[in-house]
Amino acid sequence: MMPRKIAILLSGRGSNFLAIHDAIARGDLNAGICCVVSNVPDAAGLAKARELGLNAVSLPSRGIERTGYDRLLLATLRPFSPTLVCLAGFMRILSPEFLREYAGRVMNIHPALLPSFPGLHAQRQALQYGVKVSGCTVHLVDEGVDTGPILLQRAVEVFEGDTEETLSARILKQEHDLYWRAIAMVLDRLDRNPSPAGDTAPR
Ligand code: GAR
Repeated sequence: MMPRKIAILLSGRGSNFLAIHDAIARGDLNAGICCVVSNVPDAAGLAKARELGLNAVSLPSRGIERTGYDRLLLATLRPFSPTLVCLAGFMRILSPEFLREYAGRVMNIHPALLPSFPGLHAQRQALQYGVKVSGCTVHLVDEGVDTGPILLQRAVEVFEGDTEETLSARILKQEHDLYWRAIAMVLDRLDRNPSPAGDTAPR
């Protein structure tokens, strides 16, 4: 069996990270969080990771260009040798070099039914467009903004009178139940085929 080590990258609150942590603690997800890295030093999610006694690393991105930052990120992750890199509210695009090293092993969650409403404020975009159904998506990450092969999606109804806050909260609840399932799916796939397409590096 492949190792089942998850690196979490986050920039903010960290509720998706905590939902993954809870799924592991409950025994629903057979994996371990090897490290939590944040590009925002005072991210609440990073503080939580510290409180939980996890390897929590602050790697500020301010003022560093993308390629240089992602090299630092790669160097930060390497000692933990993660099987998967899970973006959980990590508000950055990853460089081709980063994605090459973790080909087929970087995942993201997004609060809309992609390919609709990528980017920032997905829930606000959905409300402004007037869709009656939105939701959340877990996908493999490529070089685009919230693009890449879709793993799982969950639909969430938009109600009359919804605000960005009420819709976001309803979607977030589903995010928390969706991400760990997608992680389990990818880990199971990796067990069956440890070298996903494009990944030729020995590990
Ligand atoms: C979540 O809603 C996640 O889907 C979104 O950021 C929030 C992070 O919340 N991600 C994106 O919009 C990615 N484009 P969290 O820090 O509480 O997990």
